[in-house]
Amino acid sequence: MIIDGKQVAAQLRVAIAEEVKALKKSKGITPSLTVVLVGEDPASQVYVRNKAKQTMEVGMISNEIRLPVNCSQLELLAQLSQLNKDTSVHGVLVQLPLPKHIDESVIIAAITPEKDVDGFHAMNSGRLFNGEPGALVPCTPQGCIILAKQHLGDDLSGKHAVVIGRSNIVGKPVALLLLQENCTVTIAHSRTKNLAQVCQQADILIAAVGRAEFVQADWVKKGATVIDVGINRVEDAVTGKMKLVGDVDFAGVSDVCGAITPVPGGVGPMTIACLLKNTLEAAKLYG
Ligand code: GUN
Repeated sequence: MIIDGKQVAAQLRVAIAEEVKALKKSKGITPSLTVVLVGEDPASQVYVRNKAKQTMEVGMISNEIRLPVNCSQLELLAQLSQLNKDTSVHGVLVQLPLPKHIDESVIIAAITPEKDVDGFHAMNSGRLFNGEPGALVPCTPQGCIILAKQHLGDDLSGKHAVVIGRSNIVGKPVALLLLQENCTVTIAHSRTKNLAQVCQQADILIAAVGRAEFVQADWVKKGATVIDVGINRVEDAVTGKMKLVGDVDFAGVSDVCGAITPVPGGVGPMTIACLLKNTLEAAKLYG
């Protein structure tokens, strides 16, 4: 089975649009998301454009603040301070990566946790770690869980989940979410010994390493659910054109696994849908 992230994300956006309508009617609140983009990185510009389009499509207010690539850290902090105070703004996202002269950790810490729809602030990661309510949870990890449940149903209890990758954005938070779902969780990474054998234990395998087609068919248990978080640009051996591939050898692994997310069209579309979910959540909790 191929898990169609595009379709699942579209369904999620329909549900969000209905809730946005209901929130407007019951409380007079229209959720609003402001995205801050520093510089002109082409990939970031594409992401920001897609975010704005989808934010408006679900009936939310979308704002975009563009700052020049040479904008100072202080100027960005001043902008965030204004957004933190602005009661008409429910979600604030600073597009990453930032130019080298700006310290990302300082910027993430400067967004008020109640508006941190990326879920990167220590207050939100701490709440997720502690299993406390009110956490805004990082978007890509949320998307991974929703996609795994498409194949396995809502109860993931007792499944052995192996996460390859330990980043703050994907690996660590997705491991915590899987633990919350009562999975037995293994976090593997670049120093893990016998990675193939570790992966062979997985009922749910989450690949978030950033290495093109890294996970091979003989690493995967028959029937496993494989969630591929990777987005790698590589040259097609036949056509010579650039194409996107995941962290999993899709063709090989498809033959052994029970279900797999494609790249593109798997986890990617879920990330923005979950960003909209977090913006709605922020407006409901703190609006
Ligand atoms: N750049 C690429 N993905 C993301 C994301 O999920 N959040 C932010 N803030 N920047 C990104």
